[in-house]
Amino acid sequence: MFSNLKEQPADKILQLMQMYKDDPREGKIDLGVGVYKNAEGVTPVMRAVKAAEKQLWQDQTTKAYVGLAGDPAFGDAMVDLVLGDAVPRGQVAAAATPGGTGAVRQAFEMIRMANPDARIFVSDPTWPNHLSILKFMEMPTVTYRYFDSATGGVDFDGMMADLEQAKAGDVILLHGCCHNPTGANLNLTQWQAVIDLMLKKGAMPMIDIAYQGFGDGLEEDAAATRLVASMVPECLIAASCSKNFGVYRERTGILMAVAQDSDLRGLTQGTLNYLNRQNYSFPPDHGARVVTMILQTPELRADWAAELEDVRNSMLGLREQLAGELQRLSGSDRFGFIAQHRGMFSRLGTSPEMVAKLREEHAIYMVGDSRLNIAGLNRDTVPVLAKAIIDCGI
Ligand code: LMR
Repeated sequence: MFSNLKEQPADKILQLMQMYKDDPREGKIDLGVGVYKNAEGVTPVMRAVKAAEKQLWQDQTTKAYVGLAGDPAFGDAMVDLVLGDAVPRGQVAAAATPGGTGAVRQAFEMIRMANPDARIFVSDPTWPNHLSILKFMEMPTVTYRYFDSATGGVDFDGMMADLEQAKAGDVILLHGCCHNPTGANLNLTQWQAVIDLMLKKGAMPMIDIAYQGFGDGLEEDAAATRLVASMVPECLIAASCSKNFGVYRERTGILMAVAQDSDLRGLTQGTLNYLNRQNYSFPPDHGARVVTMILQTPELRADWAAELEDVRNSMLGLREQLAGELQRLSGSDRFGFIAQHRGMFSRLGTSPEMVAKLREEHAIYMVGDSRLNIAGLNRDTVPVLAKAIIDCGI
């Protein structure tokens, strides 16, 4: 039986993690996987998470099952965090999932159940695992232009022209903020134009929001998702707590479905519960419970938001420093986009050969499409990276 199996393609991001681990060189720099690291290169457990876990350890009296959609309090807290009061709560179905990836997977499953012919429009580029999951599920996928490597910004005209191909029942996958892998984002006027186009075409938005709080702030980063949810009849939102709560390995995420009315919400909620049952039964609870405690307890919430704000500002500082250093060394503004980008990533816009050269000659690891994790840098390694970029002739 097992001999029938075929070798599967390695995930490029995870493969790079391993290559970095195996590299014996001192001073190697990891700008690969999207994990936040502080100036000491550590991914800390956030203060509020530690405090909530301690309290949970003291207070929790059972680990019995909770419910197929997870704890409803988690659903409420996350709907509030992501959607605010953009839509009436009675129209939102929600189910906890194993991380943001679990939410993405369940969203695709639900789309396929509702409309097997739906085509999923994804940005070129998008998070590689979007494409990998869609391929695995054999769902029709169409790419739309997104990144303009000449400017480091969004190719908005190209994007709109490609989205014109969408038909009623198709799905447009959008990154709510902090686009992964490029770091280039739409402004709210552009979001409005995309919404108008989706309404005109009858296409449904699906938003993946994995970095709320890493770009311009918790509220600011949710603004586009809220605008979409308030204007379209239906949408799906996959949200992750991995990054903004730093609970990566706890697998904490949520899939929300905004329905047109409370009847459709009920049908949708039943479907989300059913899908959880089929795929893994009950979703993980520990991370979700910790997140709920933080969001519901004013002191914990304030401390979490303050620490997240420090994380965000440190990444913005590193962006400014890198853009400044590259401007000094290159004598040009061509890397200015690094300071404009938001979130954990920026795409340099260079070739895979140059990315390999940075790795081989300078022990600097970034994903092959030239995505670099800004949080993998610190004040001392920014000049090292800038010099390497210029030395490689990028
Ligand atoms: C990333 O894009 O690096 C992260 O989302 C981690 C992952 O699972 O790929």
